[in-house]
Amino acid sequence: MDMRSTAKDGFIDAFEWNILKTRGMEYKIQFTGPTGSNAVEAAVKLARKATNRTNVISFTNGFHGCSLGALALTGNHQNRHASKSLLNQATRAAYDGYYGEEIDTSDLLEKILCDPSGGVDTPAAFILETVQGEGGLNTASAQWCKKIERIARDLGSLLIVDDIQAGCGRTGSFFSFETLDITPDIVVMAKSISGYGLPMSLVLIKPEFDIWNPGEHNGTFRGNNHAFVTSEQAINHFWTDPLFMNLLNENQLSFGLHLNHISDKYNYRVKGRGMMKGIDFLDERVAAEIRRENFKNGLITETCGPRDEIVKLLPPITVSITEVDQAMAIFEHSIARATA
Ligand SMILES: Cc1ncc(COP(=O)(O)O)c(C=O)c1O
Repeated sequence: MDMRSTAKDGFIDAFEWNILKTRGMEYKIQFTGPTGSNAVEAAVKLARKATNRTNVISFTNGFHGCSLGALALTGNHQNRHASKSLLNQATRAAYDGYYGEEIDTSDLLEKILCDPSGGVDTPAAFILETVQGEGGLNTASAQWCKKIERIARDLGSLLIVDDIQAGCGRTGSFFSFETLDITPDIVVMAKSISGYGLPMSLVLIKPEFDIWNPGEHNGTFRGNNHAFVTSEQAINHFWTDPLFMNLLNENQLSFGLHLNHISDKYNYRVKGRGMMKGIDFLDERVAAEIRRENFKNGLITETCGPRDEIVKLLPPITVSITEVDQAMAIFEHSIARATA
């Protein structure tokens, strides 16, 4: 008996036809509890089941959520410290560029993993964000991601991309990894996937790894009918319209140009990719002051990075150029005040 609601059917059809098939991708869709952390927990549990291994490699400054399994993969001290639990079954490796441009951290990782006495258990999976949202807008190069993918394949480990923050068009394409020429085995999505800010998350699984037994990873609230309706509308309305891609490209360009101008003028570094960018103010007090000043003037921004020293801007990807101009004027005004 088919128990799917009309809303669920509508979402699955829209996602399969207008997101997956148009990109030549084949994934099974699993609905988990509504948070990003729920999706991460399911993804990692499945990778462990599929490989019969325990260890998972995650990366410095990665953020994957605050439930205990996801927290073991998250780098941030403040988040980790709060748990007072043993956060184990995970090994931290250096993200792309962690030791500076000259050092290829994927080489270091491969060396230690391929050394029988390297002391790191062969992982069930590698989990990474292509742009680290909470960790400081660090970006991974295509070359580095491809190398991690190759290491995962060589070791029989799964590659999980956490697209919870960087997905849904945020970096300029629906999936953040589309321009990086990698094919993750599992993708986790949440946040903007409902198109409307409603709680919803999902796990995309390569068919060969969909080895759950019926009801094995269950729970009462799996998928959200309201979110299915809004998500279907968002996919069909925006992601089937070629003009939407033009708008997104124009927005990325205008947003990037504004930030480059600010960076040149004030000599601070721009970080991030697409519509997920910010400026590194090197000092958490300056960043906090700018965030407060932005808010006073009607612009919501966040701080991120290991010490909250980076001001992050995540404009709606459907923003207009005029709104970008207005937001950037407020931002520049806040910077001028905080750094005067
Ligand atoms: C990349 C990434 N993964 C996972 C999560 C966890 O999602 P949630 O807060 O919905 O549990 C977040 C939340 O910010 C995130 O940015």
